[in-house]
Amino acid sequence: MKKWDIAVIPGDGIGREVVPAAVRVLNAAAELHGGIKFAYEEFPWSCDYYLQHGVMMPDNGLDILKGFDAIFLGAVGNPAVVPDHVSLWGLLIKIRREFEQSINVRPAKLLKGLASPLKHPGEFDFMVVRENSEGEYSEIGGTIHRGDDEVAIQSAVFTRKGTERAMEYAFRLAKQRSGRVTSATKSNGIIHSMPFWDKVFKEISGRHPEVETNSVHIDALAAFFVIRPHIFDVIVASNLFGDILTDIGAAIMGSIGVAPAANINLNGKFPSMFEPVHGSAPDIVGKGIANPIGQIWTAKMMLDHLGELDTGAAVLDAIERVLESGVKTPDLGGTSSTDEVTDAVIRVLREK
Ligand code: NAD
Ligand code: IPM
Ligand code: MN
Repeated sequence: MKKWDIAVIPGDGIGREVVPAAVRVLNAAAELHGGIKFAYEEFPWSCDYYLQHGVMMPDNGLDILKGFDAIFLGAVGNPAVVPDHVSLWGLLIKIRREFEQSINVRPAKLLKGLASPLKHPGEFDFMVVRENSEGEYSEIGGTIHRGDDEVAIQSAVFTRKGTERAMEYAFRLAKQRSGRVTSATKSNGIIHSMPFWDKVFKEISGRHPEVETNSVHIDALAAFFVIRPHIFDVIVASNLFGDILTDIGAAIMGSIGVAPAANINLNGKFPSMFEPVHGSAPDIVGKGIANPIGQIWTAKMMLDHLGELDTGAAVLDAIERVLESGVKTPDLGGTSSTDEVTDAVIRVLREK
């Protein structure tokens, strides 16, 4: 029997509600498919942990995580008690950076049983490949006080290596799909990094002549996600552009509560990390109504990453059947709780 070692970090807020739910689904899926077993180790690293220890994770936290096959994370952030820049740089971004999880893959697809808020959503099914280690999210910047004046500065860093890596990944992915890559740009030269991004995109496109390409300005692209999302296949975007685009991708699926994501380490030196697009949702925490689908779909992405494709497919199929049956949390217009949706997914998995 194959055993996968998974580090579980529920984190903050609804992370602690949807992670246990998704772990229950993972266990049911593993049981169903007999050949796999998960060994979990849970870590309480979070804003509460910070209040007790003064750090988001222990000094040897990364050493501890290093040995796992994958990291399964809920969400980080409780701005009421710990400033976001402290909690995020101390845990989420730290893991993404130190473990060289340079790509963030975020699918958006109109699942069966989901009602898009769009009038004409079409059959959209696209993947955003978000550069995950640099770009607008650089450490370079800060605030300067000059007498009465305050200035905030943020530098964007686009390395050739990081840009090529994200684009190559997007082209490889496109070849397994419909063979189209859209680059999210702002090439009107206003932002200095974007002509560079365009130059690299053109070069990488030249290496993959069989892939159809286009470049769309980020502002127009955001609008196209709303008016004709079905025209897209793979979209490659910088860190911040990809962040914003994927919340739109989530919204047009019906709720940010359903959107999954994977932070991929490409060099095999460190584990990849699986965490949904949404955050800790402080406004609904403790109510039992957090949508677990984003975390469960994220578990499917983790299964795919581990090569457990059949089990992953069974999980997604179960999600769709549950949504079709109308068992939904309030964010999707339903009346079911986190646990009821989770139980329904497990029931469908067992029926198969
Ligand atoms: P958020 O995603 O937490 O919430 C935005 C809105 O979506 C809220 O109304 C929330 O109730 C709703 N929502 C989110 N997930 C849901 C779910 N599963 N089911 C039902 N409704 C859901 O974004 P925010 O409010 O901007 O951020 C809150 C905190 O989370 C902040 O500290 C932020 O930095 C952090 N955050 C963390 C991550 C992460 O760890 N990956 C991602 C985004 C935000
Ligand atoms: C996400 C989140 C994070 C990001 C924040 C919390 C730093 O919004 O994973 O989408 O911007 O990467
Ligand atoms: Mn985001």
